[in-house]
Amino acid sequence: MSGERKVQILIDEKAIAERTQALADEIAAAKPKDLLVVAILKGSFMFAADLLRAMHRAGLDPQVEFFHLSSYLEGTVSTGSVKILKDIESSVKDRDVLLVDDILESGRTLAFAKDLLTARGARKVMICTMLEKPGKRAVQIAADFVGFVCPDVFVVGYGMDVAHSYRQLPFIGRVVTGESSLPTMGEG
Ligand code: IMP
Ligand code: MG
Repeated sequence: MSGERKVQILIDEKAIAERTQALADEIAAAKPKDLLVVAILKGSFMFAADLLRAMHRAGLDPQVEFFHLSSYLEGTVSTGSVKILKDIESSVKDRDVLLVDDILESGRTLAFAKDLLTARGARKVMICTMLEKPGKRAVQIAADFVGFVCPDVFVVGYGMDVAHSYRQLPFIGRVVTGESSLPTMGEG
């Protein structure tokens, strides 16, 4: 139900697919052991599904779990605190874990998840995000694998939403109401 609003494509399907396979190949090259992939819902669901298939093609056979974490309410501004809406079921003790998320922005969500799984005894907690917004970090955290560096605009599509709309789009874009000029995307 997007009304008159249009979404301007920033990263198209082909670029996402190629970069996702390259990320999976990088992850495989890190030779993770006893790997548990933890996708952070909801925003990462589409990226995680494609990344996992790419990881299979790269020769990996991870287990997969889901964390439902939320640092946003229904708007586009971070509330600053992270809530666990659904925890994972597996033990992470002595395992390599790959956290998968849509965007690394303030870093609060991923820092929270990484600290929690480290405290639960994970051997190594790696982070893979589709997008990274530079210059927005509120806490000290870096992703090990980044798909694309994203301009400082609110993006939607490929799992990402505004109030639950736009998640179905197969590309990443920004909602526009009229003419606008865009910064360009770079690989991360
Ligand atoms: P952080 O804790 O500030 O790093 O928040 C990261 C989370 O905020 C992401 O996993 C997204 O769910 C959400 N988010 C941040 N920026 C955007 C955006 O531009 N579009 C959609 N969701 C976003
Ligand atoms: Mg998220």
